[in-house]
Formats: sequence, structure tokens, C-alpha cells
Amino acid sequence: MTATQFTNQLAIITGASSGIGAATARELARHGSRVVLIARRKERLQELSAEIQAAGGNAQVIAADLSQAAERKAVVSQVLTGGSTPDILVNNAGLGWYGYYADMPWETALEMLQVNVEAVVHLTRLFIPAMHQRDRGHIINIGSISGSLPNQGIAMYGASKAFLDAFTTSLYRELVGTNIHVSVVRAGPVKSEFYHRARTRPGGLPVPAERFAVSAEHVARSIHKLVVRPRKVIYVPAVLSLAPWLEILFGKIIDRLGPLLLQRAK
Ligand SMILES: NC(=O)c1ccc[n+]([C@@H]2O[C@H](COP(=O)([O-])OP(=O)(O)OC[C@H]3O[C@@H](n4cnc5c(N)ncnc54)[C@H](OP(=O)(O)O)[C@@H]3O)[C@@H](O)[C@H]2O)c1
Repeated sequence: MTATQFTNQLAIITGASSGIGAATARELARHGSRVVLIARRKERLQELSAEIQAAGGNAQVIAADLSQAAERKAVVSQVLTGGSTPDILVNNAGLGWYGYYADMPWETALEMLQVNVEAVVHLTRLFIPAMHQRDRGHIINIGSISGSLPNQGIAMYGASKAFLDAFTTSLYRELVGTNIHVSVVRAGPVKSEFYHRARTRPGGLPVPAERFAVSAEHVARSIHKLVVRPRKVIYVPAVLSLAPWLEILFGKIIDRLGPLLLQRAK
């Protein structure tokens, strides 16, 4: 897809108030997409929208709590009203928590399921009929290497991202032969508010420092390339394509050594 083909493409980006979502909105808008920015922090979205418009782009803000089914439905009807159909849906909103699962407050576990999993499958289910009607679209799910490297301390988080891996693969196979693409972005550590917010949730342990983290802009550029050349899975950075092999080859060693790291975090 060339830059001109991006013109007027409608991209829906969840979790656009910070980190990967905000950077992706800037990147896609810079290449000519109209972007719809979704998250709870409305002022952040409005600031980003103003910045994009000042740079000559087109952005719309929808403040919504995606943990709530009713708010997801309201988002979708607001987008579809007036005949707009999303060309790109970036399911990016998500949250983390680090520690022993036995210590994880149920409210946090449930919120993680609602945002990291339920919102992704629900928004996809609500938008996909319109994509089918035009035989065109790209659903991009922001996963993590934690989905294939489910270490100690992230039982719920790794499982939520493994769900996205399986969901993406199945959907990809259902959509072969159509012009609707589905992809999962398996990202490694990224500099954003993610770790700080995970640290401030009750009951957890200090999340290990985000060593070797790439910038949110790096991920955003990879997402733009993915839109231009759709694939089922990408790793960011690319070297992390080795991650699933670590579990396959060294899983038994990680079983023994990993828990020591978690004990040290106490
Ligand atoms: N940072 C990493 O190392 C890393 C690595 C791999 C994958 N990821 C994934 O990348 C995605 C984005 O994370 P990030 O690193 O950019 O973190 P971030 O800066 O904390 O951004 C998270 C975004 O999700 C939104 N969000 C959270 N709960 C929401 C809710 N109930 N309703 C609507 N929006 C909600 C937040 O907006 P509001 O709070 O304003 O609602 C925010 O915009 C997540 O899915 C994360 O799992 C991150």
C-alpha cells in the first residue's frame, strides 16, 4: 500500500491516550489515515487529536472504558453511524500486573480479562461484519512475547496474550481468500507508562526494569509497515522471533530458575 492509498483510510486505535497507541495514531495519521482515538483519559486524547490536526491530519476522540460491554457497543455505533467503516482496527488497550497469582486481587484479574481479551474479541466481532460487507479491513491485535514465553509473575497477563495469539491465528485462517487481514504484534519490552502503572496496582511485586525496551515509536513504525504489508505475526524487535524457541528448548531450565527471580523481587 502506498502513502496515497492510506489517504482517508479510517483507523480505530484503542488505548490511544499513551504509549504504543498514541505513537501508532501519530504514525498512521502522518501517513494519511483518519484516526479514531479511544481510551478513558479524554484530555489526553483531545491533546493528541489537536496535535494531529495541527500537523494536517484528521482525528476523532471517543472516550470510553473498554472494560464495559455497553461502552464498547456505544463506541462501535458512534463509528458506524454516518456510514464510516473502519479500514484498520488496532486492538491495543491493555494493562499489566506482576507478582504471584495467589496475591492478585480478583478485581485486577477481571479487569485484565475484560480489557486485554474481552474488548479485543468484542470489538472485532462488532466491526467485522462491516469489513465483510466491503471485503476490506485489517485487524491488528497487540500481543506480547509473553504469550509464547509465559513466565512466572505474569500468569494472567501471559495467558491474556496467548489468547490473542490463538484468536489471531484461527481468525486469519477463517479469512484466507478475503481482503480482510488479521495480525498479532508480539512485542517485547516497550518504553511507555505500562510498567509504572503495573507497579502501582495493589498486591503486586516490583516489575523488573524494562531493560532492552524499544520506544513506542519503534512499535508504531512496525505497525505501519504491517499495514502496508500484512502478515499474520510480527515480532518487535524482530530478533524476538527466537522467543518461542526459548520455551520449547529451555522450558525445563526456566521452570527452575524463573521462580528465583520472582522470590528476589519480594
Ligand atoms: N509496554 C510493554 O512493554 C508492552 C510489551 C508488549 C505488549 N504491550 C501491550 O501494548 C499495549 C499498549 O501498552 P503500552 O505499553 O502502550 O502501555 P500504556 O502506555 O499503559 O497504554 C495502555 C493504554 O490502554 C488504555 N486502557 C487501559 N485500560 C483501558 C480501559 N479500561 N478502557 C480503555 N482504554 C484502556 C490506556 O488508556 P486510559 O488509561 O486512558 O484508558 C492506555 O491508552 C497493551 O496491550 C500491552 O499489553 C506492552
